[in-house]
Amino acid sequence: MSNNRLPIGIFDSGLGGLTIYKEVRALLPAEDIIYFADTKRAPFGGKSRKTLLSYASQIINFLQKKQVKMIVIGCNTISANCYPQLKQRYTTPMFEPIHFAAYQAGIQAQRGVGVLATEATVKSGVFEKKLALHTRLPIYSRPCPLFVPLIEEGLTHPDIVIPAVKLYADYMLPYIDTLVLGCTHYPFLSKSIQMVAGTDVAIINPAKALAKEVAVYLQRNNLTKNYLSKEEEVGTATFYTTGDTIKFRELCHRLISVYPIVEQAVL
Ligand code: DGL
Repeated sequence: MSNNRLPIGIFDSGLGGLTIYKEVRALLPAEDIIYFADTKRAPFGGKSRKTLLSYASQIINFLQKKQVKMIVIGCNTISANCYPQLKQRYTTPMFEPIHFAAYQAGIQAQRGVGVLATEATVKSGVFEKKLALHTRLPIYSRPCPLFVPLIEEGLTHPDIVIPAVKLYADYMLPYIDTLVLGCTHYPFLSKSIQMVAGTDVAIINPAKALAKEVAVYLQRNNLTKNYLSKEEEVGTATFYTTGDTIKFRELCHRLISVYPIVEQAVL
């Protein structure tokens, strides 16, 4: 098969990468996409760099067996801790969300930048490093370990989420005007986050910009799917999870209004 007819691979620990999937799908409706969620081992946020590298390598090996033409790391935690090593290890083109979030926040902030992310992402210091390329304003980074389990359990109602947002973000709000969602799960809580932060704080979700980078890369490299029939104008989506397939399907429906067939994956 010529390369442009191969699928795009997107992966995350669980549901978070769906915030990226949604934008890639919207921008590239004809592309075939494979989405991989390592739900059984989620959350990734409290894991060591060594463990994260081993998880990411197993997932990428799985996606490579499915012959993806590119890989989108739909997980800040993997990107923050393993991106350089993964780039070195694999020749498949790879894309990640952090540099966009840092760029957007860095160029638009006037007062200070807040970063909400997982423990492993905050510990990596990657946001500080990348933000420093674009701004000298103070940065307030906060790990939010309650957020991912809430989303994976489908508990996204503001009544439940708002106290957790306050717990993590309240202290930084007087000093910031820009707040980065440094984990792909968090846009599913953006309504509650915006309610706590108020309308004066701009919330940064890099998913759209990342999807655009994917589209531009495909175009420039003649990798955009050339469909051979009318039916192929609508790309396929195959979802894999290492966890419970039925629960994943229900939550996909609840979060991004798709009701996919979900395959069981064993790594
Ligand atoms: N959604 C991922 C991220 O962007 C992983 C979160 C987790 O599993 O803790 O970091």
